[in-house]
Amino acid sequence: HALFRPIQQAAPPSPTNRQTKISVIGAGNVGMAIAQTILTHNLADELALVDAKPDMLRGEMLDLQHAAAFLPHTKIVASPDYSVTANSDLCIITAGARQLPGETRLNLLQRNLALFKHIVPPVAKYSPGTLLVVVSNPVDVLTYIAWKLSGFPPNRVIGSGTNLDSSRFRFLLADHLEVNAQDVQAYMVGEHGDSSVALWSSISVGGVPILSQLTDEKALIEQGVLEKIRKAVVESAYEVIRLKGYTSWAIGYSVASLARSLLRDQRRVHPISLLAKGFYGIPDDCEVYLSLPAQLGRSGVLGVASIQLTEEETARLRRSAHTLWELQQQLEL
Ligand code: NAI
Ligand code: LAC
Repeated sequence: HALFRPIQQAAPPSPTNRQTKISVIGAGNVGMAIAQTILTHNLADELALVDAKPDMLRGEMLDLQHAAAFLPHTKIVASPDYSVTANSDLCIITAGARQLPGETRLNLLQRNLALFKHIVPPVAKYSPGTLLVVVSNPVDVLTYIAWKLSGFPPNRVIGSGTNLDSSRFRFLLADHLEVNAQDVQAYMVGEHGDSSVALWSSISVGGVPILSQLTDEKALIEQGVLEKIRKAVVESAYEVIRLKGYTSWAIGYSVASLARSLLRDQRRVHPISLLAKGFYGIPDDCEVYLSLPAQLGRSGVLGVASIQLTEEETARLRRSAHTLWELQQQLEL
């Protein structure tokens, strides 16, 4: 229409200016927190939403569209039909059952495994070149399942993993030390959840290693406090679920940070769930997904960081791997 007078047409966008499309499968608490953060951070030119509840899905789409005047221009589409996800650069899967108060993440496995058998094949069919980020729980085993069902190379299939646990860890450390959480480098690795492993030896604040201070009388943070903080991280989700019924905001920001590192080729290091066989002494035949600090870019996992682990940390990581491997042996894909 004549709202704008055309100028001489510029050359068609070069492949580097190609539009970016993100699809979020599962428009519940988590999916919509992720969608909102993607829009706020201008991470996509097109956002597609999928859910099994058509009315709720349309309502969520309209509600986001109505914020257009306050957000960078983003095309928002939604449908229960997976064709709406076609040609995505990144697909984020949050569909599935969530924990009831007191329930563990592993309790969700059978229900969400059944869902993934219906979700992953169409996602892979419509976007054969997409990056895949799994959020649904139990995220490590479901990411392994998404890898197997998609047929994608492992570098393109990751789980949000302990990116969220590490954020909680950094918040609690920062709160105790009265510093900014962004200046705290600290990783939780392994399983997202009850057996996650705090890497004490690599905690630093503004580049100052924490543990090296422990030997001095001016200990920055004593061992007992560290253990209390680690326990609080593991308990975090159970406490929030008991209080508000689910967790959403922190995972929303956590996954949006992964989306930015992936799609904007940031080459940042995140603790995310990846195919961990062969790393940190995990046997080559142990095909498990666990969180390790990895560099992320446009092609997915670019590499796994070689962080110095103590013997105890390595042993706990291997125990976590063994637990998940045992569990995976019982699965029927
Ligand atoms: P929710 O119940 O609010 O949303 C789940 C959505 O999945 C619902 O809207 C439901 O209609 C949809 N769904 C179910 N079957 C589907 C199918 N076959 N196709 C498409 N959509 C389908 O649950 P919430 O709170 O959003 O949690 C979602 C998942 O994310 C849970 O498994 C939860 O445990 C997990 N989660 C993982 C976190 C992590 O750090 N990895 C953090 C928070 C939640
Ligand atoms: C969390 C659970 C829900 O860590 O995985 O928030």
